[in-house]
Amino acid sequence: MTPSYISGFGNHVATETVAGALPVGRNSPQRVPFGLYAEQLSGTAFTAPRSENRRTWLYRLRPTAQHAAFAPYDGASHLKSAPFDAVPPSPNRLRWDPLPYPDHAVDWVDGLVTYGGTGSVAEQSGVGIHLYAATTEMDRAFFSADGEMLIVPQEGVLAIDTELGRITVGPLQIALIPRGVRFRVRLPGGRARGYVCENYGALFRLPDLGPIGANGLANPRDFETPVAWFEDRDAPTQVVQKFQGGLWTTTLDHSPFDVVAWHGNLAPCRYDLTRFNTINTVSFDHPDPSIFTVLTSPSDTPGTANCDFVIFPPRWMVAEDTFRPPWFHRNVMSEFMGLITGAYDAKEGGFAPGGASLHNQMNGHGPDQGSYDKAVAADLAPHRISDTMAFMFETRHVVRPTRWAAESPTMQLDYDNVWSGFTKAELPR
Ligand SMILES: [Fe+2]
Repeated sequence: MTPSYISGFGNHVATETVAGALPVGRNSPQRVPFGLYAEQLSGTAFTAPRSENRRTWLYRLRPTAQHAAFAPYDGASHLKSAPFDAVPPSPNRLRWDPLPYPDHAVDWVDGLVTYGGTGSVAEQSGVGIHLYAATTEMDRAFFSADGEMLIVPQEGVLAIDTELGRITVGPLQIALIPRGVRFRVRLPGGRARGYVCENYGALFRLPDLGPIGANGLANPRDFETPVAWFEDRDAPTQVVQKFQGGLWTTTLDHSPFDVVAWHGNLAPCRYDLTRFNTINTVSFDHPDPSIFTVLTSPSDTPGTANCDFVIFPPRWMVAEDTFRPPWFHRNVMSEFMGLITGAYDAKEGGFAPGGASLHNQMNGHGPDQGSYDKAVAADLAPHRISDTMAFMFETRHVVRPTRWAAESPTMQLDYDNVWSGFTKAELPR
């Protein structure tokens, strides 16, 4: 059966799989219909302002509390958490070849490889940046108590079964799974690879639009939240949780996906990146890449994100008398980039789909020689960049690589050379 969705971002939703399962007019009646158990899932503090408050009421076959003690889990050995202090943070521009697939059966959880991150799970700030390469389906459930998970598929389809409903995403789509929500990833098309931003900080939201107005960029109605779905399965089911960076496991005697009905505004969702209403210059100079922000996790400093999720989608380039690719720059924010498909317009070569790059705070980067030469020689006719979808996790804090990322054979040790050939500017004599 194809999953069904409800349109909108962060809306208050009410959904039930069985007529009459959802209590009417109250959250926690003395007796819930059918003997279901009512349970509140809080994504913000009880006392968060109403405009920020996110919570959902679940009505399930058994309470989540019914489980044996968690014990340490020794899988997912490359899944790491902030603080990232295994190796010193590097000022160098770093770039990696695509993450190779394992040559044996590895599911989505064990297939997570952390490249780096920022902040601290204990302080509820920063992000963990992971890639995944999975070759077999999960037959268990996973959740992160440390943050929400923004999943960016690069190859292969993910069928994500969550407590609140089922989401299907493939390349050019994203999924956002709230902190604490249990989920399982199946692979209907075979192996899959992609990127994950585990956000320890404030929940991702749509950015303010300022003078752009009421519409544009990612429009709220294009986000899709799944309707309620459940399975009534009394079979041993492993649950793995990530808690303060550690991994823990327990085995239930039933499926945790037993939520028959729910209502609230904290729920998984998906978004189709091709629906992004891309806005850019129609005169000269392209705006800062923040114009391509899909979602933002704010920090305590206005306008300075814990993390922005930014895309570089297909678009027309029409700027007059303008160097059209991304310019050279140094940034107080730090930039981790991935490529979903095609080529990125600042890099002629070396940045492949499934690869990654990291340009940390205050370190110069920009177009490579090939892109630069082409851009300064170009006839500035309207030009469409069609086959592309790069993205960036841009954060206020330096992205500190993991030991795996720092020592990986996928690291391109010659990356600095893409900027080594520029000739000196010549002043008039
Ligand atoms: Fe940059």
